[in-house]
Amino acid sequence: MQTNQAVQVSALTQGYGKQIVLKDINLTLNHGQILALIGPSGAGKTTLVSTIMGMLRPRTGQVSVLGQAVPNRPLLAKIGFMAQTDALYESLTGAENLTFFAKMQGVPHAQIAKQMAYAANVVNLQPALKQPVKDYSGGMKRRLSLAIALISQPQLLILDEPTVGIDPELRQQVWHELHRLADQGVAIILTTHVMADAEEADTLLMIRNGTAIAQGTPAQLKADYQTDSIEAVFLAAGRQQDAH
Ligand SMILES: Nc1ncnc2c1ncn2[C@@H]1O[C@H](COP(=O)(O)OP(=O)(O)OP(=O)(O)O)[C@@H](O)[C@H]1O
Ligand SMILES: [Mg+2]
Repeated sequence: MQTNQAVQVSALTQGYGKQIVLKDINLTLNHGQILALIGPSGAGKTTLVSTIMGMLRPRTGQVSVLGQAVPNRPLLAKIGFMAQTDALYESLTGAENLTFFAKMQGVPHAQIAKQMAYAANVVNLQPALKQPVKDYSGGMKRRLSLAIALISQPQLLILDEPTVGIDPELRQQVWHELHRLADQGVAIILTTHVMADAEEADTLLMIRNGTAIAQGTPAQLKADYQTDSIEAVFLAAGRQQDAH
């Protein structure tokens, strides 16, 4: 296997009970690349990232992360994860949440303060770090969740709808940081409904009805579908799927 590979998904089928949610998903993500998963609500994006994280065992097919097959519990410490639903300790402050998750991810004690300052700074949360999370707005909770994903400086980031509740100015700042991390070799997977996020990614995987309907770089997809927007690519690929 190439050492540059961060994530490989081969012929993945996934589901819940009798429901099949993902069919024959294949993807490769190298270090230094940003992959955006896009698709309608219920398409299977969260199911796919949960499977890559190892929270769901593949029904059929293989998933390997940082060179190891998942599920694999020790791998979790190497992945920065932001769930679609915030999993925060409401009665603790932002700083206490960050400290807790930093310790869980194995950040050495002496580096926690520096890493907290870095992660909080990316999402402009420094002024609120001493407040309990129960007093945060929805967007502040999303930002804290993103800071938690960043705090251990992981080699793989998996972010489920990271730009929800993030204002346009901060969105630019977050994207600046994601590109900087990718330049340093971090592999990033994110899900989004925002076409502008899709445009920022190096590669896209469009999922509809559990199937990959289009996959490639934004420029390549626009050229293939002879259009100038990712939204139009998605709609055209969806029409092709319906026609089959
Ligand atoms: N824990 C679960 N148990 C049973 N069914 C589930 C579970 N999680 C998701 N599903 C079903 O799997 C399908 C895909 O859901 P998933 O959450 O992966 O979609 P999504 O693409 O992330 O959607 P959204 O954009 O709304 O977040 C849906 O039909 C959903 O009802
Ligand atoms: Mg989801």
